[in-house]
Amino acid sequence: MALEIDDVGVVAGGRAILAKVSARIEPGAMVAVIGPNGAGKSTLVKAISGERRPAFGRVRLHGHDVSALAPADLAMQRAVLPQATTIAFPFTVFEIVGLGLRQRAGMDAAARRQEVQRALGAVDLEGFGERLYQRLSGGEQQRVQLARVLCQIGEPVKDGRAKLLILDEPTSSLDVRHQIAVLSIARRFADDGGIVVAVLHDLNLAMSFADRLMVLEGGRLVADQEPEELLEGGLLAETFGTRMVILRPPGWARPAVLPDFPRLHHGRSGEAADISQ
Ligand SMILES: Nc1ncnc2c1ncn2[C@@H]1O[C@H](COP(=O)(O)OP(=O)(O)O)[C@@H](O)[C@H]1O
Ligand SMILES: [Mg+2]
Repeated sequence: MALEIDDVGVVAGGRAILAKVSARIEPGAMVAVIGPNGAGKSTLVKAISGERRPAFGRVRLHGHDVSALAPADLAMQRAVLPQATTIAFPFTVFEIVGLGLRQRAGMDAAARRQEVQRALGAVDLEGFGERLYQRLSGGEQQRVQLARVLCQIGEPVKDGRAKLLILDEPTSSLDVRHQIAVLSIARRFADDGGIVVAVLHDLNLAMSFADRLMVLEGGRLVADQEPEELLEGGLLAETFGTRMVILRPPGWARPAVLPDFPRLHHGRSGEAADISQ
């Protein structure tokens, strides 16, 4: 029982935008997908979610090919927070979050209401139910979408099977407190037995919350490692084309990185200070 990504390739516009990606993610694990813009991160999560059928290879969740599952089955086993969501109609927050419950049978109106309120509470948006989605800030909208996704996925494990939570840049519009809050929700989902795949740009959030980091570059998986191992290899600087200072704050369980901004903070000479990479 696991999420198995087996030699997956995706072709678009006549070129391979993802090639030969393989990984296995066990229940209880949270994996961060990182990489430069255009590396293929969203393409990979679309292949994992079943939204995009790969040209090569297969993605299986607990042995079932995700692109062969019926939409209703898929909706009960995995939920996806897409990178961008445009809503063209004047829906309220309550209506948007309630969309997450469409596939859940046997819930009366009161139970649905309660579930939506609970999800709004989880993303720190109590009392936002009647507000119009379009009038919220970008970060508030992002948290509404997460609440919708949480409503859809429900418990991390059902009938002994881990569910899959897929988040594509879930923290891109959030202030730092809400970034931590949202990733804590994802972490708890994994700790309670679910599987989480999250595309993240903030390397420190990725290293702090995820068990492993999958690094994509030019459609290829160039690393799939634990944070410490990844930093030791020195690959990040190369992948992102910027030097990184590795920090090990006392008492921190995980290392952190600081991109090197030579012209800004190395004084008048522009000489690099003592950095490890
Ligand atoms: N449907 C498509 N047709 C053509 N090119 C695409 C399509 N979807 C994505 N791409 C290209 O594939 C590359 C990877 O895209 P994407 O997975 O969205 O990257 P990331 O999420 O890592 O920024 C980009 O260069 C993008 O322009
Ligand atoms: Mg993307």
